[in-house]
Amino acid sequence: MLGMSDIQTDAPLLPVLVCPDPQLRKVARAVTEADKALVAKLIPSMFATMYKAPGIGLAAPQVGRHLRVITIDIAPNDVPTPLALINPEITAESAEMVVQQEGCLSVPEQYADVTRPARVKVKYLDENWVKRELEADGLLAACVQHEIDHLNGVLFVDYLTPLKRNILLRKLAKAQKELKGNR
Ligand code: NI
Repeated sequence: MLGMSDIQTDAPLLPVLVCPDPQLRKVARAVTEADKALVAKLIPSMFATMYKAPGIGLAAPQVGRHLRVITIDIAPNDVPTPLALINPEITAESAEMVVQQEGCLSVPEQYADVTRPARVKVKYLDENWVKRELEADGLLAACVQHEIDHLNGVLFVDYLTPLKRNILLRKLAKAQKELKGNR
């Protein structure tokens, strides 16, 4: 696990793509050994971008890099706990489902209740390319599932009923238009 001091928070920030940018719908490819240098640069920039937003999770496709890399920090008990996951894969999920409110840096200022498995097991490579497994529940379980969805071009709004999704996306489009108007 990373310590806060390991994170180069002055790494270059990356622009976060906003829905309905078609780049958010592309499936990211698995990272290979050949990507090591690229990923070593990408992870600090993803953390810097995520903390600046601020957000609790970021997936590489959100910054236009279609690689299976995610960064997460849900800061349990307000303690920074950065997690970088390379090629994450859900290996088990609970039958029990829970509803939690979600948001997304690519769907700014919009929130909705999403139903997902309450607990998941995830295998991944950490930032040092060490194989690890994570058992998550609560907010971390929702967050890791949400970020892995991004790697498959899936957004949390896809879980909503068409009616709720349309209302949310219309509100987002209106807010984005106003934002551009004020620039
Ligand atoms: Ni998101």
